[in-house]
Amino acid sequence: MEMTSSTKQSVLITGCSKGGIGDALAQEFYSRGFLVFATARNLAKIQHLKDLGCEILALDVTDENSIEHAVQYVTKKNGGVLHYLINNAGMVYQTTILDVDISAFSQVFATKVFGVVAMTKAFSPLLIQAKGTICNIGSMSTYFFTATNGAYAGANSALEYVSHQMRIELKPFGVSVVHVICGAVQSNLHTNRLLPSMSPSSLYYPIRHLISQASNPSFIQENIMSSSQFAETLTSKLTREKKPAMVYLGSGLWVAYLMSFMAWCAGWLVGVRFWDLVSEGPMGMKALKGIVEREEREKEKEGKKLV
Ligand SMILES: NC(=O)c1ccc[n+]([C@@H]2O[C@H](COP(=O)([O-])OP(=O)(O)OC[C@H]3O[C@@H](n4cnc5c(N)ncnc54)[C@H](OP(=O)(O)O)[C@@H]3O)[C@@H](O)[C@H]2O)c1
Repeated sequence: MEMTSSTKQSVLITGCSKGGIGDALAQEFYSRGFLVFATARNLAKIQHLKDLGCEILALDVTDENSIEHAVQYVTKKNGGVLHYLINNAGMVYQTTILDVDISAFSQVFATKVFGVVAMTKAFSPLLIQAKGTICNIGSMSTYFFTATNGAYAGANSALEYVSHQMRIELKPFGVSVVHVICGAVQSNLHTNRLLPSMSPSSLYYPIRHLISQASNPSFIQENIMSSSQFAETLTSKLTREKKPAMVYLGSGLWVAYLMSFMAWCAGWLVGVRFWDLVSEGPMGMKALKGIVEREEREKEKEGKKLV
């Protein structure tokens, strides 16, 4: 029997711009016969999904009016039911805390945390009606404590907590919540990221090349899981009758596990400072310490000469 839009399983995915994880998920769900609402801030970036047969609509998860419009659209199209909501939209902003632009930092949280909460609230009547599933795409960055990544890793850590809260609170209504710890996956994340060039007045200017090198590891786009492979595996897990609470998927996750395990083992000896040992060197903080100390010694010498 051919499924009509009212009997078809439906999914809405945020952040489906071409070449990313959302795009691959939209294509995967579509290939499995779902009614797919593929969304993005910029419709031009999801035109190919319309050509494929998906419903497309503009959606900025940080904009209440945009969310409300999406709810109205899906309600009208699908009789007030939504089976899956995939909160995928995200962005990276990398800089040191002293150089941070608060509005850019806030934007990361607005997208990854407040946006997820706003989407969940707005679509909850449709999801409850369907006894549906919410999937929040988090990141393995929550396992690493490194310089320059506080906005992204912080937002993903907050999201992980929010996912757990959502899972507990939505269970009585028959809605499942799945949190994904996403490893490295081919996408546009790192080309899209906000990586402001450092001002010469920054205290970190002397080590800008080390920060830039460490923020662009060569493995990022090479030899990592393709977005289509990620989408195929995740969709299979999400469409099982018994939904997992957590999904760990993507390349390099073993590094995260190993480092967390080592940090846990080393906890009694060096505690959380284990992470300082791991990331201080590559991110140039040790080199900066050397530079600062040298400058202080020179200033001291100058001072003595003057006396
Ligand atoms: N790829 C990885 O290695 C990796 C690892 C860990 C976690 N993740 C997570 O996976 C998710 C998907 O990212 P990706 O890797 O596929 O990167 P991507 O290709 O850059 O896709 C991110 C998507 O989010 C959209 N977006 C950003 N801000 C938005 C907003 N305010 N409202 C709606 N959409 C917004 C982007 O839209 P524009 O095109 O308009 O910018 C884009 O469509 C993210 O949440 C990311 O944190 C990815």
